[in-house]
Amino acid sequence: MKFSAFAFPLVLAFIGSSLAAEYTCENKQVVSTSYIGENNNVKAETLSCSNTLPGFAPLAATSDDPSNVCGANCTTNCFYPSGGGPDPNDCQVIADALLYDSQNVGPLFNITANTSGVAMTYASCETFIIDQASYNLTYCRSDWSSVLEYVAFNCQATQNAHGGNCVATDQRWFIQVQSSTA
Ligand SMILES: *[C@@H]1O[C@H](CO)[C@@H](O)[C@H](O)[C@H]1NC(C)=O
Ligand SMILES: *[C@@H]1O[C@H](CO)[C@@H](O)[C@H](O)[C@H]1NC(C)=O
Ligand SMILES: *[C@@H]1O[C@H](CO)[C@@H](O)[C@H](O)[C@H]1NC(C)=O
Ligand SMILES: *[C@@H]1O[C@H](CO)[C@@H](O)[C@H](O)[C@H]1NC(C)=O
Repeated sequence: MKFSAFAFPLVLAFIGSSLAAEYTCENKQVVSTSYIGENNNVKAETLSCSNTLPGFAPLAATSDDPSNVCGANCTTNCFYPSGGGPDPNDCQVIADALLYDSQNVGPLFNITANTSGVAMTYASCETFIIDQASYNLTYCRSDWSSVLEYVAFNCQATQNAHGGNCVATDQRWFIQVQSSTA
């Protein structure tokens, strides 16, 4: 897997879409919990939820939609206003743990279909990735690390924000960054 920081346009789009809404996992079920990273201090949970992003309208699946979405583009939306967001430096610890696991566990991980996902928590920061497609997806830990870092540092109090998300162009998956107490 070749990772390029330029694979994402990661545009800060101030779209009025409901895709920019904060997502709360409804009927959350934690399937498994582990601790990752060099210091085993980042909590990783696989979870299932019952809801998609509001306004989710996936493009019709085609036979050549890859289920490996490494390098796919996503659009960043910040959550406004500021106050109560995660400390980006705590998010950086998760981003580093994802890179560590990428190098030491493997570059890829699977996410289960139909609004299941994986959540990572360290101190004030929580990030999760949700698969909204009707089939399992494969993603790159290093890509999640980059998206997390980008959203955490570009959707903080300095930008009058308290976290944000990055929604795949085809809406099959999204990554959210928020306060761990939200
Ligand atoms: C991401 O978006 C850029 C700019 O629109 C495009 O050139 C590139 O091909 C896209 N990458 C993927 C993997 O779709
Ligand atoms: C992801 O799922 C596929 C299909 O079930 C499997 O072949 C692959 O080993 C899994 N990859 C990882 C990283 O778990
Ligand atoms: C999708 O992932 C789930 C959870 O890991 C697994 O039970 C299921 O077999 C996978 N489905 C396919 C088609 O790989
Ligand atoms: C996801 O839900 C759809 C619609 O209910 C179903 O057809 C599909 O088999 C489900 N996929 C998995 C992997 O459970």
